Amino acid sequence: MSAESAPPVSDAVVERIARGWSSMGPPIRISAANRARYDAAIRALNLSPGADALLLGSTPELQALAAEHGLRLTGADIDPTFWAAMTRVSGRPNDRFIGGDWLDLPADPRWDLILGDASLNMLPWPRMQAMLARLAGMLRPGASAIFRLQAIDPAIDLPALKAAFAAWEGPRDGRDFLVAHHFLVESLRNALHPELTNRAFYEAVVGPLLDPAELAALRPLLRDRRNCYPPLDALLTAIEAHFHIVDRQPCPEPGAGATAFFFVLRAR
Ligand SMILES: C[S@@+](CC[C@H](N)C(=O)[O-])C[C@H]1O[C@@H](n2cnc3c(N)ncnc32)[C@H](O)[C@@H]1O
Repeated sequence: MSAESAPPVSDAVVERIARGWSSMGPPIRISAANRARYDAAIRALNLSPGADALLLGSTPELQALAAEHGLRLTGADIDPTFWAAMTRVSGRPNDRFIGGDWLDLPADPRWDLILGDASLNMLPWPRMQAMLARLAGMLRPGASAIFRLQAIDPAIDLPALKAAFAAWEGPRDGRDFLVAHHFLVESLRNALHPELTNRAFYEAVVGPLLDPAELAALRPLLRDRRNCYPPLDALLTAIEAHFHIVDRQPCPEPGAGATAFFFVLRAR
């Protein structure tokens, strides 16, 4: 894998994904409060203009932030279409891009900064642990990684999810409802049934909290995916095997419960 311009992809698909992402809000999308956390953490690193930053994924807010700090950003994503769409959102079509699995990223070149938003949570737990080890080796000496990461919120049980659904004021049969509760549902799924996909968990566990008509309307929007939220203790142990935790802050936001944490890490 090497850095290159993103390959050509269908303009209509790119536009559809870009529009979909632009219409989305926190907690899936980085909030203004979290953007400010990344901003302050990058500033505190005092990186030189043109320092090399690697983005795990395509997060447009992090593309824009890297540019504001004068960094030379390379995005790494398994999905070049998503990358192209997110560069449209960020207005950064010329940043460098590496297509492929993060686990296949080369150990060389090394980076002055590695950024990501919930990226590692896309990986199953053994691969997340392996990736943490690889990332530590991909940083230049003294360099840092800045991530929002997710863990199981032990306070989210079925009654808590039911209460969150009851507090939702919009319709319960569309994408906004799914997106707004995604962190809470994935936290509960990881706690109760990590073997199920998000779709299967909705069918088996979440569905009974909804009206049959609501579940039927949501069905076409459900996906056979899993985000891995480990228990917080396990996540901290896995991180500390390879990094010093320079900063850790909870990211409490509507719909996120205590599932999201902001980390600044320095390789051991
Ligand atoms: C940055 S992550 C998380 C985004 C969002 N904050 C959320 O909670 O869903 C999403 C990106 O990771 C990419 N991705 C997932 N697994 C990957 C892997 N193993 N290697 C490279 N990219 C991957 C996806 O293609 C997608 O563009």
